[in-house]
Amino acid sequence: MATIGVFDSGSGGLSVLRELLKLLPKEKYVYFADNAHCPYGEKTAEYVQDRARAVTDILLGMGADIIVVACNTATAAAIEVLRAEYPAVPFIGMEPAVKPAALGTRSGVIGVLATAGTLKGSKYLNTKGKYGNNVRIVERVGRGFVELVESGTLSGPEAESVVRESLQPLLDEGADTIVLGCTHYPFLMDVIKSIAGPSVRIIDPAPSVARHTVSVMRERGIETNNEESPETSYYASGDPESMRKLLLFL
Ligand code: DGL
Repeated sequence: MATIGVFDSGSGGLSVLRELLKLLPKEKYVYFADNAHCPYGEKTAEYVQDRARAVTDILLGMGADIIVVACNTATAAAIEVLRAEYPAVPFIGMEPAVKPAALGTRSGVIGVLATAGTLKGSKYLNTKGKYGNNVRIVERVGRGFVELVESGTLSGPEAESVVRESLQPLLDEGADTIVLGCTHYPFLMDVIKSIAGPSVRIIDPAPSVARHTVSVMRERGIETNNEESPETSYYASGDPESMRKLLLFL
């Protein structure tokens, strides 16, 4: 049985863990929410790199065979550093889903919601350069989204007004496809869908990141599904209570 380490600045990475559990239900998972340092989105790249190293050390100490960086911001700031500093460890990062969005849009306008750190990272800029040629990409930081999710406010008037503020400008620009570029945002999916309406496609990259994790594990010969008793443990650098509500969505 493999031990899969998963981390995020907080509870957002649970949206990735949820997809991993669908594909690989029989493994041992260690989820780490670095919520004492959340949000990562407005911090410097150096700060996020330091946190990513610290959390990696904790997960390796718990026996992780592979680490899923279930955070777009940490992927943008730190995945290259982690791969260079821990060459024996396979790291899976988040991919901004610009490619499927660009291939599927009918209006020719795609909207990207992400943190400031992700939107200025070279990974996103490269993907945009590669797949964004024939489409118009409009971007917005999902301001306040992470705080909503961390506080377990996933619906209601407050969630609606915070989400509308960042989403509406993308819809007004004609976006018919919205890429969720932060792992917290899928927990606001119901609110996002109710504002965007049925004709707008919302892309959560978590299922494709989970599929990629499975293929990397196969390539690396990391053993899976051997019928031992699976388990998932949750750790947090701050208050663990904030994760509890979201665990109901797994
Ligand atoms: N969930 C994170 C992401 O995917 C980080 C959000 C934050 O801490 O700002 O970007």
